[in-house]
Amino acid sequence: MKKYLFVFCFVLPLLALSQKQEWIHPGEIWPDQDGNHIQAHGGGITKVGKTYYWYGEERRQGLDSNKRYVSCYASRDLINWKFKGDVLQLSDPENLGRRWVCERPKVFYNKKTKKYVMYLHLDNSTYKLARVAVCTSDKPDGNFTYVKSFRPLGHESRDIGQFIDDDGTPYLIFEDRPFGFRIATLTEDYLGVDKEVCLIPMHMEGGAVVHYGGLYYAIGSALTGWDPNPNKYATAVSLAGPWSEFKDIAPPETKTYGSQSTLMLKIDGRKKTTVVFMADIWKPRTQWDSRYLWMPIEIGDGKLWLPQPRPWKVDVKSGEVKFK
Ligand code: DGJ
Repeated sequence: MKKYLFVFCFVLPLLALSQKQEWIHPGEIWPDQDGNHIQAHGGGITKVGKTYYWYGEERRQGLDSNKRYVSCYASRDLINWKFKGDVLQLSDPENLGRRWVCERPKVFYNKKTKKYVMYLHLDNSTYKLARVAVCTSDKPDGNFTYVKSFRPLGHESRDIGQFIDDDGTPYLIFEDRPFGFRIATLTEDYLGVDKEVCLIPMHMEGGAVVHYGGLYYAIGSALTGWDPNPNKYATAVSLAGPWSEFKDIAPPETKTYGSQSTLMLKIDGRKKTTVVFMADIWKPRTQWDSRYLWMPIEIGDGKLWLPQPRPWKVDVKSGEVKFK
């Protein structure tokens, strides 16, 4: 009996503690609370109360190759993530055939309808369909069910991104190959795309936007498939533009330290506002081993810079960042 008490009182809590991580290590294996490498590629973050939900492409080995999966992880500190399951398990919804594509999930919470609305890039194997798919759930951790797919405002749409402005307005960012990078509002129920706010005539994937210090910053990558390239940014006083020229966010020879943008996460802390660059380090032949490059960026007065990746952590309450 004493032996069991000892295990319960000392060994188990110690084990739990030892799994707790203190630092974010960009580019390294990122274990979830079960010790498995996080599978949330091309992802997005939705904050509900104090909890951050990280949605992304589930690419672990051994999945049913006919289906596509979106995973969900929950965290209160952005460092330790609990796997909440594959919240979308989709069978080819539009008869797209072999090697159909479902990428870059982004979830918006609609306070009026109390629905979680997920947007995805839906495509066939040749990436010619170029649509978004919309799925909904009553809870952040699923299950999500498929609603429909369409081309936003009739335009081609491949990589998508999400942006929530400070007043809560949600925007969909989408790459329209013939024309460029579009930003558009959603309908009241979030199930559709309503109005275009701007078209930035740049051919960019991995689109992301953040509002900081009275300026909008848009970033994206060049079109080089799974290979990294120098990601760039532009600024504007209004989301509608005009937008400045695009400039490098990091030394171009590093190709964004081998990564591709997916989101810019703003943490409005009590003491500091921190913006985190979230990106994927893709491993196209071993996608389950693709990594994440999350780093706080230097931002302000029209400048944005991604410092050399190194271990760091953020206190989500104060917004302050520390480096190891
Ligand atoms: C780049 C995109 O950003 C990815 O999401 C994926 O679609 C690859 N291209 C496919 O080559």
